[in-house]
Amino acid sequence: LKQERKKTEMRVRSTLIFLTSATAASASSTDLHNIANIFKPVTTPGKLDYDSAMLSIWVCTAIFVIVASVLVYALVRYRRKGNDDLQEPPQVYGSNQIEAAWTVIPLLIVFVLIMVVARVVASVQNATPPPNALKATIVGHQWWWEIQYPDLGIVTANEVNVPEAGADHQPTFLQLQSSDVIHSFWVPQMGGKLDLIPNRNNLMWLDPKETGTFLGNCAEYCGTQHANMLIRLIVRSKAEFAQWAAEQKKPAVSDASVDGERHVFESLACVNCHAVRGTPANGKFGPDLTHLMSRQTLASGMIPNTRENLRAWLKDPQEIKPGSLMPDMQLSDPQLDALVAYLVTLK
Ligand code: CUA
Repeated sequence: LKQERKKTEMRVRSTLIFLTSATAASASSTDLHNIANIFKPVTTPGKLDYDSAMLSIWVCTAIFVIVASVLVYALVRYRRKGNDDLQEPPQVYGSNQIEAAWTVIPLLIVFVLIMVVARVVASVQNATPPPNALKATIVGHQWWWEIQYPDLGIVTANEVNVPEAGADHQPTFLQLQSSDVIHSFWVPQMGGKLDLIPNRNNLMWLDPKETGTFLGNCAEYCGTQHANMLIRLIVRSKAEFAQWAAEQKKPAVSDASVDGERHVFESLACVNCHAVRGTPANGKFGPDLTHLMSRQTLASGMIPNTRENLRAWLKDPQEIKPGSLMPDMQLSDPQLDALVAYLVTLK
């Protein structure tokens, strides 16, 4: 019973942390776009998807209005009246014109919709990267996103940074892969969702025409923390993106004033799973920490990346994200202080 109560307590507490931090996160980033808004696409594939979906919706709406009007008219016009003679009305059998009409018209409608959708699918899926395309690889993990820019030598996590398409229409091509189970990448304003499947390369592209932070999430059930596998897609102007990339390319900051703290970090099991470029830490199972503090959130978008949240996360990840593959390391207070002091220097 005691264990059960502790579990419930933990669950309530993590929900509270989530709610307070979600409010904090939305209040802090003024350029945050509407959450998961499928009605405001900002890319070419998104706009094509949106237009074909709206066409289907309008055609279906027109059919509904016509059918419902005829039905209501018949119900009212031919309802039972006071002078009913209780005789069966005249029965009409067959009319070639009417039957031909209600067969041919729906066939034509379905044909047109199929052609429109097939064209959109082909133009979105068969695109080949132009020479100026930025390439990134996204690897799904339980329950976070690894983001690599092979041409730039950058590895980061959970926040996908891309340049605005701009005058040269520079698109970003994403290769989607998975290290464990099937995930699905979905940032609604960028377009449709696409699965990340083990041993497969799925390709998607985006050419955002607006800067800002766009929210998304994993859209394929992938285990306990599927709902907390959040994505931030940050579209920057060309200049800002170049600056961001230049910062990310640098090795980790080596701050002599936290040498002792860095040794604590390097002596703990952290380094088996996490990498800090330019140090002995080169684990591959968890997010790369080289520029940890350049990210807005922790735990794949769950909590804002502040000193307090970082400490709480290191103290017991299971309390914030139960089931997370980062275990409770049972760290002492001095160890926690040292880790936080070192990690916050990784700008
Ligand atoms: Cu990853 Cu759901």
